[in-house]
Parts: sequence; C-alpha cells; structure tokens
Amino acid sequence: MHPPEQQTGVIETLLQEERTYPPPPEFVAQANISDPDVYRRAEQDPIAFWREQAGVLDWFKQPTQVLEWNPPFARWYADGELNACYNCVDRHVASRAAKAAILWEGEPGDTRTLTYAQLYREVNRAAQMLRNLGVRKGDRVAIYMPLIPEVIVAMLACARLGAPHTVVFGGFSPDSLRDRIIDAQAKLVITADGGWRRGGIVPLKANTDAALDAPDLPVEKVLVVRRIGDAGPPVSMHEGRDLWWHQELSKVPEDAVVEPERVEAEHPLYILYTSGTTGKPKGVLHTTGGYMVGTTLTTRWVFDLKEQDVYWCTADVGWVTGHSYIVYGPLSNGATVLIYEGTPDYPDKDRWWQLVEKYKVNILYTAPTAIRTCMRWGTEYPERCDLSSLRLLGTVGEPINPEAWVWYHNNIGHGRCPIVDTWWQTETGMILITPLPGIVPTKPGSATRPFPGIFAEVVNERGEPVARGTAGGLLVIRKPWPAMLRTIWGDDERYKQQYWGHFNDGYNTYFTGDGARQDEDGYFWLMGRVDDVLNVAGHRLGTMELESALVSHPAVAEAAVVGVSHELKGQAVVAFVTPRTGARPDDRLAEELRQHVAEKIGPIARPDKIYFTAELPKTRSAKIMRRLLRDIAEGRVLGDTTTLTDPNVIAAIKRQYEEKET
Ligand code: WTA
Repeated sequence: MHPPEQQTGVIETLLQEERTYPPPPEFVAQANISDPDVYRRAEQDPIAFWREQAGVLDWFKQPTQVLEWNPPFARWYADGELNACYNCVDRHVASRAAKAAILWEGEPGDTRTLTYAQLYREVNRAAQMLRNLGVRKGDRVAIYMPLIPEVIVAMLACARLGAPHTVVFGGFSPDSLRDRIIDAQAKLVITADGGWRRGGIVPLKANTDAALDAPDLPVEKVLVVRRIGDAGPPVSMHEGRDLWWHQELSKVPEDAVVEPERVEAEHPLYILYTSGTTGKPKGVLHTTGGYMVGTTLTTRWVFDLKEQDVYWCTADVGWVTGHSYIVYGPLSNGATVLIYEGTPDYPDKDRWWQLVEKYKVNILYTAPTAIRTCMRWGTEYPERCDLSSLRLLGTVGEPINPEAWVWYHNNIGHGRCPIVDTWWQTETGMILITPLPGIVPTKPGSATRPFPGIFAEVVNERGEPVARGTAGGLLVIRKPWPAMLRTIWGDDERYKQQYWGHFNDGYNTYFTGDGARQDEDGYFWLMGRVDDVLNVAGHRLGTMELESALVSHPAVAEAAVVGVSHELKGQAVVAFVTPRTGARPDDRLAEELRQHVAEKIGPIARPDKIYFTAELPKTRSAKIMRRLLRDIAEGRVLGDTTTLTDPNVIAAIKRQYEEKET
C-alpha cells in the first residue's frame, strides 16, 4: 500500500465494498420521484430548483425572492410569509380530518391516537393556554418532556405563536437543562411529572426543579404535563411558578381558535443545542421558510411518503432527527406518524418489531447503533413478528457499516425494502446526502449522492477537490441550502469561524467536520469525524473502515477504534469490540480479529490490541465517544463524561482495561 501524494487532509481508503442494490422495479413504478433528470435540472439552476420547491408549502405571502447570500449569512425566501404550524396542521384539516396524525404508544402499553382534526383542536387550545401565560411572538420556550403527544402539541403551539422553542432531550441532566434555558433566555418551561423508561421513571419535574434552583433565571412559569400521575412519587409544585398543563388547558374553551401568527420566512422557528463530542453546546438556529421547504421536500422524496403510509422514525424529539423527521417534515406532508415512548428492549427485545406489526408500519427510520444492537441480540426477535408491512428503511446518525446495512436489509426488510442511508447534521436541518429510493442504486455503507440542489464535495486541507476513487478528505458543502442553520444563537462569530472559516475563501465553503471519500461512481462514503482520524506510520486512516472491517466478522456486533501514541508508528490501532450474543470473547478471538482486519484492509490496519466490552460509550444521541476510549488507551484521566448516556459503561471499560494492563 502506498501513501497517496502527501497532501494534508487526505485520508487513505482501504476498504472496498462491491455489492450494489438497484431499486426494485415495483418500487420504481410507484415512487414519488423516479426521473433522474431532477439531478441535472437542480444542478444546472439551483435557484430555479429551490424557487419551484417553495411550492411544497402554503404561504400567506408567496415569496418572490429565493436566496440572499452575504457569506456566510443566508436569507431564504426572505419576502415570503407563512406559519409552520399552519403547514403541519391547519392545511390538512379539510382533507384529512379523520386521518391519524399521531399514533402513540407509551412504554407501559397505553395508547393514544390524534387525528388531524384532534391535533388541530389540541394545538389551538395549547396555543391559547400559552398565550394566557404571556407567551408572545419571539419569546423562547424550553421543552423538556418524554415522547408523548403533548411534546408535539407543545412544539406546534409555539410555532403557531411564532415563539421559538428549544427542546432539551429528556435524558439531559439538570445542569444541561439550566445552561440551555439561560443561553436561550427561555421564559417558560414545559415539562412533565416524568416519563417511562425501561420500566423506571425519568424524574423530569424533579430535574427541572434542580435546574431552576439558581439565581437570576429568566423562567417565569413551568407547565407540567401529568404523564405518570399516581404511578410515581408526588412531584412538588412551586406556588406561583408551576402549573399543571391539564388545569390550565381546562380554562380554555374546547373550540378555541388561535390565528396562526403570520411570520416572515426568516423568523426563528427553533434553537436546538448540539454538543458534538467536545466543547460548549452550540445553539443552532433554524428559521421558518427555508427549513420547512427543505424538510417537507426531503420527507416526500427520500422516504417516498404516500397518503396511506404509517411512518415511524425512532428518534426522540429532543434531537434534530425528531424535529425534522418526526414533527415538521412528516406533519407538513399530512403523514401518519408513530411515536413510542420507551426503549426497544422493554419488556423484551422484540418491542420495536411488535410495534411494526401492530401499527403496520410502512416506513422505518432509525440509527446504525440501534441496528447493531439488534444484530447483537440476534435474529430471533424480529423473526417473532410480521414485518411484511415495511416497504422502505432508513438510517441516520452515524456511518452504517456494510455488514449492519446488509443485516438490516435481510432481517428487517426481508430483501424487499430499499434502504436510504441519509447523511445530515443538526446544522444542516435537512437530509443532504442520500439515495432517492426510486432512482439511485444503493451500496451498503454509502450515503450515495447529494440530494438535488445540494453541492457536496470532498477536498483536502487547501480546499482542492480530491479525485474520485483515490482517497478520502474533508466533506464540504459548496453552496447554501434552504434548511441550513442561520447562526449559532447569540454568537455570529463562532458560526462564521466554526462552519465557514476553514478555507480562506470568503466564507463560501461549509465544512461539515466529517471525513469522506467519493468512489469512481461519485458515491459518497462517510469515514467518521475528522477529529477521530488515526495516523499510523504516516497513513491517515478513518475510523469507519477499520470498524467496518471488524463488524464484518461474524462474532462482532459493534466496534470502536482509536489511535494511541506509539514510538515507532506514531499511532497504533486499538480496538474496543462488542461481541455478538454467543461469541466467546477470548484471546483466540482477539487474534482472529486482528488477522481478519489485516486480510480485509491490510497489515497496516491490524489492531495492536483488542479489548472486549459489553457496551461502548455513547453520547445521548447514540454516537460512539472515541475521545474517551482514547483517554483510557493513553492512560489519561477521563475527559468530560457529562454527555454520555451511561457513565458506568466507560467506568467499567476503564476498570477492565487497567486490570488487563497490570
Ligand atoms: C454523523 C444527526 C455517516 C456525521 C442528523 C454528522 C452520519 C453527524 C450520517 C451529525 C450518515 C449523521 N452517515 N455519518 N448517514 N448521519 N452522521 O448533528 O458525523 O446529531 O456530522 O445530526 O452524525 O449528527 P447530528
């Protein structure tokens, strides 16, 4: 293996994946979009393309402008006026009154359905309630709730009033909640007495109380949804500050109507905090018009959404995936959306598949980490259920290893369902790299090609394109797109430098922070975060290919690799491996895996050490935290662990590691 020309920012590519899956002809025949010419048209004249796509929304005032670009600040459809809630609810009431908008199942098995007519009523009443509590256009509202219908009602009610929401994931601690409340200067918090998770109660109200136990906070009122009720310990209600949602709602007439606020296209819709794997959380600001165009259109085209479909995205609304592809995109299309409060293994590991069978889910959108977890549990769980309603599968959140892709295709999609591997970010708002399932043949592990109207490229440190089929580099986006973040809330300078300041080109190139390569066909293969790239004897290796090589061994469910200092090689490869159920994690397997990687991608990539571990440390949005594994492997004190789902996991790995090393 020869290092390519020594240019910085280039990542070597070692793993070749040859399998391809053309769209099934039956799928193409019914697809929402099947004419490949759309790519050419959008590329030739992106402004005309995006002008036309504004038609996916109902506007109070039709925009005449498309893009105003003062790098790196964009305004989309700036003279248009609309309301996001109107697009998600009101416009469907006439034609879809009795159609289910939300199908909900709580973890204990309780259920609720909200039709579009009911959603309309609930959202209007909630908006009136918020208005009674003093919420006005422009005010920020923090939402800290379990996945119950009220969380969607609350978001839409805010949008109806033009009050930007900031949803804080229910798994976050009081400190994280407080930081976000302060940064956004939220005057109202909407929470619940708790939520169910794996049979236990997440004490959301108690956490909120702890968060608000500090001087000089902007919060005036706290609204509390009764979710747990008598099944849990009583929550304390602070006189003058805390109010029960159901009591306040009962003061609003059943048929209350709140006119949706007519907002300008660039009016803030929400702020969503993203921590990434390091650094202070950033308040990513999304505005209304462009965001709604981007999410509405991608939902229609990428998920091939049909009127009768039941659509299920397994994310939490606390993440951008929940914002764009549970709430705004699907509801703007008048879809039936399933939401489920709990975990996939409660009461048993077949819960998700039970839900697919029960609700006859047609479209399933989930994360690679969930798929790898299901792989680890084994096929017996999906085999218990009837999954024949499924017709399209999607993934998001991390690169999906080819082996996990094929497992998903075979065991969940039964070979019938196209898979859309969708690459995007909190900051991009909408899916940017993805197959259109009726047009683009897929390759396991590749997000394939940019969505029409999106200009993605792989470049080196100087911003020059890396030739297709040679090596990896930095993934960048060359032109603005409608759903892009507008700034970091309160910090234009950080927005400018962090995302657009990488290549001295007048803030015209958006740097994603991801490594990627393009193959000879122009397909994009994501290689992991650039911060995680290893440097072994002068070879820059992305984490994705090494981990995929490990996951391609039948005994491996999940793997994380890190580089640790090595006197000769610069860095050595250390792998942390979660075996599949039934595999024996011993020295023999470790040796076999080292050999396997060497065969798959070359001796240079052979891990120096392999550690077996029952779990890998993940952020609350389920991304592997390699930074902490690096700390362990380098014998350093662990860095910040506050964004981990379960700090016990990393503590256990550290213990195990130290025992092994002494
Ligand atoms: C990663 C989630 C490979 C990537 C919507 C990105 C992916 C980060 C994919 C954003 C994918 C997301 N293939 N990597 N299909 N989707 N990523 O902000 O590193 O939670 O930069 O948004 O997840 O994560 P975020």
